[in-house]
Amino acid sequence: MRIGNDIFEASYWLRKGEVVAIPTETVYGLAANIFNEKAVEKIYHLKNRPKNNPLIVHLKSEKELFKYAINIPVKAKILANAFWPGPLTLVLEKSGLIPNHITSGKETVALRVPAKKILLELLNELDFPLAAPSANPSNRTSATSTHHINNYFNDKPLHYVLEGGECEKGLESTIIGFERGEPIIYRLGALSKELVEKVVGKVKVLNEPTNLILAPGMFSKHYAPKTSMQNINNWEEFCEKNQDKKIAFLTAGIISETIPNNLTIFNLSEQNDLDEVARKLYNTLFEIDNLNFDEIIFKYFPESQLGSTINDRLTRASNK
Ligand code: TXA
Ligand code: MG
Repeated sequence: MRIGNDIFEASYWLRKGEVVAIPTETVYGLAANIFNEKAVEKIYHLKNRPKNNPLIVHLKSEKELFKYAINIPVKAKILANAFWPGPLTLVLEKSGLIPNHITSGKETVALRVPAKKILLELLNELDFPLAAPSANPSNRTSATSTHHINNYFNDKPLHYVLEGGECEKGLESTIIGFERGEPIIYRLGALSKELVEKVVGKVKVLNEPTNLILAPGMFSKHYAPKTSMQNINNWEEFCEKNQDKKIAFLTAGIISETIPNNLTIFNLSEQNDLDEVARKLYNTLFEIDNLNFDEIIFKYFPESQLGSTINDRLTRASNK
């Protein structure tokens, strides 16, 4: 596996029908030419991803929306205009150009224009869009740096990893579908519900099990580290009761209490800045996984802005 910042090498392998890991502003992806069924199959194989879980198509510009989707609701156009390039994925009726192997046979397609500069340069080199799910084995934490990709896929047939540094957002894109023209959030993500609502008014957030049918990737256990994780309100009591355990505490803000011997603090943002928490969350989970902790404990964040997305990922990561 080669890691580098050469968009010509990346485009060479993609044209040959190979899989290339790409950086985006949200998380890294495993990319292939959407029109090459064999190449797309390699993505499923690498991730060990069920075939009924469709892929997001990454476009080079907003204009391509009209090429790959049909019957586009007005509010979808407004959202694309407001947030592309950026961490927003729109699920729309697919045009005849979208092959069935991208959508798991569904009549809809998930589209997004990413904001990462080096990825846009790569997309502009290519005459096809890129199908790309997050670059992790199914159900594991998404990769936010090439270091994580190396950890996951070192011995796998992944030809090239395009280096893009650490992902600026650190959480996956927000996925929005439509029902009779009205937007519905299928997956909370790096674009907050509040920002979406500023542009299109009130939106519903789908809960399981409905989103299992609409967005099959939203299994309740997902985004999980290897170390077991749980929500604890009284961490001092938990540490007292589990003296024999080595415990990691995911938190933010200033901690003034005395820290028990069996507890290590992983502070995601001393200023309690939710953007910073989001950016650091997955990387911190990776770090903890490599340090042999028995348990990760956390408290939920306030349910607003990115706090809602962070809480969603914490819940999924801790589901057994
Ligand atoms: O930020 C992101 O969205 C990253 C980067 C690489 O772009 N990608 C990503 O892809 O998170 P993935 O495959 O890990 O998650 C995509 C989700 C899955 O839950 C999938 O079921 C859903 O999008 N999805 C894809 N196509 C869909 C469709 N036609 N209808 C409903 N859900 C769809
Ligand atoms: Mg994923």
